Formats: sequence, structure tokens, C-alpha cells
Amino acid sequence: MTLAIDKDVSQANEPNSKRPKKIGVPKEIADGERRVAATPATVKKRQTLGFDGIVEQDAGAAASFSDDAYREAGCDGVYTATDVWEQADVVLKVQPPQSHPNGLHEADMLGAHQALISFIWPAQNKALVDHLSNRQATVLAMDAVPRISRAQKMDALSSMANIAGYRAVIEAANQFGRFFTGQITAAGKVPPAKVLVIGAGVAGLAAIGAAKSLGAIVRSFDTRPVVKEQVESLGAEFLELTFEEDGTGSGGYAKTMSPEFIAAEMELFAEQARDVDIIITTALIPGKRAPLLITKETAESMKAGSVIVDMAAEQGGNCAVSKPGEVYVHSGVTVVGITDFPSRMASQASQLYGTNLYHLLSDMGGSEDFKVDFEDAAVRGALITHAGEVTWPAPKPEKPPAPPAPAAKPAAVVEAIAPEKESSGITKAIGLIALACGGIAIGLSAPASFLSHFTVFILACFVGWQVIWNVSPSLHTPLMSVTNAISGIIILGGLLQLNGTAVGGGLSATTILGAIAILVGTINISGGFLVTQRMRKMFRK
Ligand code: NAI
Repeated sequence: MTLAIDKDVSQANEPNSKRPKKIGVPKEIADGERRVAATPATVKKRQTLGFDGIVEQDAGAAASFSDDAYREAGCDGVYTATDVWEQADVVLKVQPPQSHPNGLHEADMLGAHQALISFIWPAQNKALVDHLSNRQATVLAMDAVPRISRAQKMDALSSMANIAGYRAVIEAANQFGRFFTGQITAAGKVPPAKVLVIGAGVAGLAAIGAAKSLGAIVRSFDTRPVVKEQVESLGAEFLELTFEEDGTGSGGYAKTMSPEFIAAEMELFAEQARDVDIIITTALIPGKRAPLLITKETAESMKAGSVIVDMAAEQGGNCAVSKPGEVYVHSGVTVVGITDFPSRMASQASQLYGTNLYHLLSDMGGSEDFKVDFEDAAVRGALITHAGEVTWPAPKPEKPPAPPAPAAKPAAVVEAIAPEKESSGITKAIGLIALACGGIAIGLSAPASFLSHFTVFILACFVGWQVIWNVSPSLHTPLMSVTNAISGIIILGGLLQLNGTAVGGGLSATTILGAIAILVGTINISGGFLVTQRMRKMFRK
């Protein structure tokens, strides 16, 4: 189902529905939020989709974007919050709507004709979702965009988690009073820091990359064995349990593990905690409380001066002693429960978030064809409220229908087919007899020298056919190298034949066959090189 928002959104202020839609970006009002939903660069980019734009005064100031920079980028103007909420067709925000210092709730400033796109966290904010649906507005949550390949460019959770993982390492380094990298100096030897990253999702992998690039020894653990290769490709060691349980869930996320598994991994972390200097925990299953993996005793067993960064502090925490939003020292270990890592890199976070929004707006049809397409998995997944209804969570995609069971053949048909089978058997038998007769005739009439070559030729055809037919597609590239080598031998044989007949002179059947062999062999070799080259290009960045 496709619902054109034109009816609802476009005619807010003007009767002409063909006018460009106006995007409004208010200043974030949440405590400590420095990000902004559009940067001057994304404003420019958005204009290519036909949108006009207005921003609230100082909306980008905390992220180092001045009002003048927005004006230069083509924003219609810089307004008050009330102007932005009133005039915009589509409001872009970072944080979910909340009470505004002007006394109104942001949700109440949103009208039925408008759309809002921001983080909403619908599972945690049920009252807000009801509030928004009462406003009859169209609301899309960036945190609900599904993790499917087509929606990667709109995946704000991943772009923020990537920043957060990097920043977690920087904050850890700030609290950790030592080098990350090992050094040997005239004044003595400095051992490298040891970092354990628990959970190798988006944030975890970014943390591994950052810690590794600072020179630390990095270890990581995750319940999904599929991430082992990614962890190792970043130069870290992947820790494993001797426990047969796969944590791979659906949609690129993990599933809840059995209590026995959690107990086994906690034992592993307790052992690691005595050895490592920094633990960064990122373990989470969406919509669930973060699993508790570092007990109070484990935290206290770490060396004095060690650091624990609990990235899941806001979702209940992976560490028993972390406090959301706080950095404090517990038994000589600094525990970091910061919940606003992306906001601490506001300029780049805003740029990436603004680009995610640009892609969503483009997916929704740009200014002219702006619509909510229920068939678009990315839009449907993110849609929270529409036309007074709560549309979240999106229904799970239906499983593809099972292939129809082969219909039973009517008896009459079976009977009709049976003689055909018999006749095909007879045809095969006749063919074999004809072949045998042909073989005998050749054997009686052909010279002995020809017969030995002919036998080798027939056997080679048979063996070659069997070998090549049974090679799995994944081995086609090595197979190509082998066929290139065979083609090389064929070309050589062809050249020898040409040379032999050239000495004797004249154009014989041997000369022609030799020339054809050279031509076909050459086509095979050069074709093989061309295909290989194209395949290599596909994997080159
Ligand atoms: P993600 O879903 O991509 O990764 C979570 C990883 O944890 C997955 O690889 C999963 O397999 C793993 N995991 C789940 N249960 C586990 C267990 N029992 N043991 C070991 N690994 C386990 O999530 P993403 O995007 O990487 O975020 C990670 C965490 O960082 C989340 O808690 C998220 O809320 C938080 N975050 C925090 C921010 C902050 O400012 N503090 C900002 C952005 C994200």
C-alpha cells in the first residue's frame, strides 16, 4: 500500500501542493545533546531532492555549524523553534520529542499534516508513541530502520555505534594513565596495554579497530561465531568457549543465550579481567536488557588503574558496577558509563546522521513524490505512527511460500508415459549398438598407429567430461588456471604440427587442424585472463 503524504503534509501552509516541501530542523533541547539533524553539507545535498529548508537559530552551534553556514548552504532562513515546528512539512530531529523550554511538549507542536523523523525508541517510549499517534502525524523512527542491506545507507544506529565504539576507546585512553602501544626506550621498557572488547557488533568492531591502531593488544568475544573472521581481520584475537551454542539471531542481531552459556562466558571474563587493562563491553540484544557479564567481583579483581567502559550502561549495563552517565572510580578501577559518545563527536555524528536522513528522504520520493510506501521494507520498518494509528512494530516479513508439492500424476498420464520410457531405453540401446558397430568398423579398417591415438582420444574425452562436469562452481577459478595450462599444451602441439607441415609444404588437414587448435587455445587463455581480471575488479575497493 502506498499512501501519498501529499494529502496530509504538503498543504500545511499553501494551497499549491506542487511547491517544494519544507524541511525544518529545530535545535536539540535534550540535556547535553550537541548533535543536529542537518549540517550545511546535508542541507545542500537535500536540495538536490527538491526540498526547501529552515533551521532554528543556533541549531548547529554545539556541533560547530554557524547560522551563516546554513544560510550559505541555501537554507531559507534561521527562525525560532515555534516557526520551525509550524512551517515545516517534515521536521528532522535527533532526540525523541520532549517538553520544550517554551512550555509546550514538542509532540504537541506537531500537526496532523506534518511528518517527524528522529530517534524515538518506541519500545522504551510507549507513552510518547501514543501521544504522537493522537497528534495524527506521520512519525518515522531512525532507530527502527531495519538492518537489511538495502537500508544500510539509512542505518543511523550503525553510524552512531561506529562513532561510539571509536570514542569509547578514546575515553578509555583518557582515563587510563598509560601508553596503549609498547615501547622500548633508554629509560626502560613499556609493555603494550591489553584491551578486551566484549561484543563485536558495530560498536565493538569500531572499538577493536581504534584500540588496535593505538598499538594495544586486543582480544574480543562474541556469541556469534560469524564475527570471528571480522575480529581477526582487524588484528585482534578472538576468544572462544568450548561450548556448542550459536548466538546468531535474525536481522544481523544476536539472540539470548542459555544461562549455562552466560555462566561459561562470565568465567572467561573473570579470568581475562585479571590479565587485561581495559574492558569495553558492548553486548546487547535489541529490545532486551543488556546481559550482565562483569560482576562486582570481576571488576574488583582488575589491576589498579584499569578501566571498564560499559557502552550498554543505558540498557541496564553489562557491568554490575557501572552507573549510566557517570565516570567514577570503584576499587581502583575507573568505570565509564557515558551514554552520549556520538554527541561527543557532534560535528561528524551530525554529518553522518544527516546523510542517513537524506537517504531516507530520497527513498521516500524526494520533495515532489514524498510518500509513505508500506511496501518499502525500510520505510515500513521505521514507521511508528501514521494517520492516527500506531504502526509499530512492523509485521514480520512473511516467509516465502513453500514450493507447491508435486501434483500426483493421473493414472492415465502415468500409463501414457511408461511406453515412452521404454522407447527411450530402446533408443539408447540402438545408439550403443551403432557406436559399437562404428568402433568395430574403424578397428578393422584403420591403420594400427591411428587406433592407439584414437583410443587415447576417446578416453581423454570421457575422463575430461567427468572431471570438469563434477567441479563445484567455487573451484572454477583454479579450474580456469588448469584449462589455461591445457590450452598452452594444445597451442604448443598445434605449432609443432604447423611447423612439421610447413617443412613438408602444402595445406593439409593436419595444418588446418593445427591452426584451429592454436586459435581455440588462444581464445581460451585470453578469455580466462579477461574473466579473472573482471572478478578481481569486483573485489577491489
Ligand atoms: P550490535 O547489536 O551491533 O552489537 C551487539 C553485539 O553484542 C552483537 O555482536 C552481539 O552478538 C553481542 N552480544 C550479545 N549478547 C552477548 C553476550 N552475552 N556475550 C557477548 N556478546 C554478546 O550493537 P551496537 O550497535 O554495536 O551497539 C553496542 C552497544 O553500544 C549497545 O548497547 C548500544 O546501545 C551501545 N551504544 C552506546 C552508545 C553510547 O553513547 N553509550 C552509542 C551507541 C551505541
